[in-house]
Amino acid sequence: MSELNNIALKILSHGKGILAADESTGTMTKRLSAVNVESTPESRLLFRETLFSSESMKTSIGGVILYDETIKQNSSSKKTIPELISSSGAVPGIKVDTGAKSLVDSPDEKITEGLDGLGERLKDYYKLGARFTKWRGIYIISKNYPSKLSIDANANSLAKYSSIVQENGMVPIVEPEVLMDGDHTAEDCLNKTSEVIKKCFEELIQHKVSLEGIILKPNMILPGNKSNEKISNEKIAHLTLKCLKDSVPKEVPGIAFLSGGQTEIEATENLNLINKFNDTNFIMSYSYGRALQQSAIKFWSKDIKNIKGTQEVFNHRAHMCSLAAQGKWSKELEEK
Ligand code: 13P
Repeated sequence: MSELNNIALKILSHGKGILAADESTGTMTKRLSAVNVESTPESRLLFRETLFSSESMKTSIGGVILYDETIKQNSSSKKTIPELISSSGAVPGIKVDTGAKSLVDSPDEKITEGLDGLGERLKDYYKLGARFTKWRGIYIISKNYPSKLSIDANANSLAKYSSIVQENGMVPIVEPEVLMDGDHTAEDCLNKTSEVIKKCFEELIQHKVSLEGIILKPNMILPGNKSNEKISNEKIAHLTLKCLKDSVPKEVPGIAFLSGGQTEIEATENLNLINKFNDTNFIMSYSYGRALQQSAIKFWSKDIKNIKGTQEVFNHRAHMCSLAAQGKWSKELEEK
């Protein structure tokens, strides 16, 4: 097995998943303002370091996606942040796209940028300790969207990015996120997400990306957040599995879902059911941002010096996600 495949398996095996702590400074400022904490390099570091030095980093978190600012910061113990993460046995990763801009010929949609100078930046990130990367393409659903243009353009960029990342010895996370915003049905989400993922793999194969050395980070199949449709968690799990079985080549070692605006409990329960019903060979785990950090940031904001208490909240959430990644979670365990 290749070195890249080993990295992907190290991140996702034994019920471990990914902590997505790669919010850009703008997004992190929004998250901190929402809990009345001023956003400074120091406050962003303090919250993140609190999570990265938690016990659950050894048991439930196999990889952490960092933002450019954080990968260059030092922890209070003088270790660099990537050293701190590695010391728990987790793999440091880095977001390398530079954000989504309006798509010129379809301005309601977005194309993700960041290919310029990517090779050089990757060399620096490798030296800093990163062994995997993230690039997120975003797609909207409505009557005419996502357009073929957006599906093709984002798949092409995801494939170019993946090929450059592998050339530099790192595992690319391929993240095509079909957003949950809108009044579409789960069936619409299934059809559009399948089309998006299939096109991504067509491009990845054309660009000769080694599929055993990537991690796919998709959305789950859900009705839009403004839809009246109510479907069970079991149905969500079955539709999500159907989508992935039909569109992901078997060489891919692991799938790590984004939470995409689901609550912590929804994201945990749905992942648990996906694993209960999983009849594929794919590892099905998590790469959650909000669904791992929401309770922790709320708790921390009440007293930013309460490191231990914040870590307990985070440890619980990470443990619940890890159980869900093994199909061993239940609601009763949330109360303990
Ligand atoms: P959420 O889990 O909050 O959707 O974040 C995951 C992520 O990294 C989106 O790119």
